[in-house]
Amino acid sequence: MTSKTQPVDPLYNPKLRPIIDKVIEDNINLEGGLMVVLNNLQSKIGFLSAPMQEYVAERLNIPVSKVHGVVSFYSFFTTVPRGKHVIKFCIGTACYVGGINQMIDKAKQILKVEPGQTTSDGLITLEICRCVGACSQAPVVVFDEVNQGHMKPAKFGKLVENILKDEANA
Ligand code: FES
Repeated sequence: MTSKTQPVDPLYNPKLRPIIDKVIEDNINLEGGLMVVLNNLQSKIGFLSAPMQEYVAERLNIPVSKVHGVVSFYSFFTTVPRGKHVIKFCIGTACYVGGINQMIDKAKQILKVEPGQTTSDGLITLEICRCVGACSQAPVVVFDEVNQGHMKPAKFGKLVENILKDEANA
């Protein structure tokens, strides 16, 4: 069996720990500070690991279940690092009825990962999201924060292949 080096959790990374501590200390006395702390940590560190969530709970003196609850409720938060590119599938009613599942199936076929996962090369993360406010263009897929409406499986496949081609040539 080969042993893979596990990346050090940000909480134990000497470069990242001061950033985590500063975010917490800046907001420790703020009412509703939990959301601000989590938002800042997601932006600055890129994800919220389990040890980070436990540490935030301890420092803010709140139950860790409350932190887990907030992190799992909002799709903006992730517990593992996202890939270089993020593809989100809107599963709001209009997009669901409009056939978003066909795009999800196509993505799974091309990339061999499920929504919520990242390709093994760290290039693309697939995510599910709620209505992005572009229902008249359903079904909508969000490529790196840009809405692409009236999506069809063939068009979707081309967009994904373009990302892969660009990255191979980068
Ligand atoms: S349901 Fe997808 S944009 Fe509104």
